[in-house]
Amino acid sequence: MNILAIESSCDETACAILHDTTLLSNVVVSQIDIFKAYGGVIPEVAARNHLEAILPVIDKAISDAKTSWKDIGAIAVTHTPGLLGSLLIGTLTARTFAILHDKPLYAIHHLKSHIYSNWIEQNSSVAPKFPLLALVISGGHTQIIYMKEHNSFEIIGTTLDDAVGECFDKVAKILGLPYPGGPSIAKAAEKGNPDKYKFPHPKIDNLNFSFSGLKTAVLRTVQKTCSVSLDYPSHDLKNLLTSEQIADFAASFQKTAVDILLEKLVLAETKYENIKSIVFAGGVSANKALRKKANEIFSSLETSIEVSKENQPEPFKKRKNTANESPRIYFPAPQFSGDNAAMVAIAAYYEIQSGIEPTNPYTLDISPRSNIS
Ligand SMILES: Nc1ncnc2c1ncn2[C@@H]1O[C@H](COP(=O)(O)OP(=O)(O)OP(=O)(O)O)[C@@H](O)[C@H]1O
Ligand SMILES: [Mg+2]
Repeated sequence: MNILAIESSCDETACAILHDTTLLSNVVVSQIDIFKAYGGVIPEVAARNHLEAILPVIDKAISDAKTSWKDIGAIAVTHTPGLLGSLLIGTLTARTFAILHDKPLYAIHHLKSHIYSNWIEQNSSVAPKFPLLALVISGGHTQIIYMKEHNSFEIIGTTLDDAVGECFDKVAKILGLPYPGGPSIAKAAEKGNPDKYKFPHPKIDNLNFSFSGLKTAVLRTVQKTCSVSLDYPSHDLKNLLTSEQIADFAASFQKTAVDILLEKLVLAETKYENIKSIVFAGGVSANKALRKKANEIFSSLETSIEVSKENQPEPFKKRKNTANESPRIYFPAPQFSGDNAAMVAIAAYYEIQSGIEPTNPYTLDISPRSNIS
């Protein structure tokens, strides 16, 4: 069956068509260049741009897939969570087409889509196996989710304040690096020393995260390094830093953020038995330093021992004894780690496989905030 999916939850207008698990087309129009000038997304501007882009994007997805409305079996759309105006444009468009062409409509949770980006173009022999842990790391969320089977989600850890992607974006601003902050920090970090500055890890015993303290720790260390007072305007600090210092701050921050994420993931894997797969999801999962370290920790006993040196945080050491049956780890292909509609289509495919009923196109509503369920 061909599924046409629409995504517009933040600043990407996207449409994709999937035939079962095979991608026929994938169109993403990003507003990143517009928001670079402002250093962040302006919700009303994003909604206006979605309105202009959405119909051409859908037309292009249909023509790239060499199909037509009559061969579309179902429509899927992101209806929660996200920016209110942005969600409205995609959802109203999907509802209209579902009614106009008499197609079943599937309302998809955005984090479910991010998780399912790991199933795109994967046949059942290589797809992630259950039970699994999903680490959702994006601009708005940082969660560890336990899945015992398809379409079953238990949030076992979540951030108590900022999301990790938001933290990358805010630290990039302090360092004067361009929006979006994640890729800018990663690039600057390539030339930096990750051990130059030490930032504390939050002291939280359970599987929850906190990132606002890390952001403040970077700010305070930059102020101290530049010998300015605590009330010195943070947007001016970049003018006092050398490019070498910026690279060292980027690398040290990135290392700390990656370690905090993986520490909790390792802890979750030791708490939940028999985990077969670990899937990473969301924009931050594109981070190469994270991918490298996760591969080192989870790939084999040998490399786990290697990372379990003196300076490793406690959970990494603990894992040394349990690494015989390492779960297989999955990262979305880089083009599917940020927002796109292919991940919405694949999530709908697995809803249909699980026998989940379509929604009513006359009444489907949006919700800016909601937990995955
Ligand atoms: N290479 C990278 N390293 C670290 N962070 C990255 C990288 N690439 C992108 N990011 C971060 O990913 C985030 C965007 O991801 P995504 O598009 O999944 O989030 P969102 O859709 O805005 O939020 P949510 O999915 O929670 O609603 C931004 O914070 C961005 O800085
Ligand atoms: Mg997203």
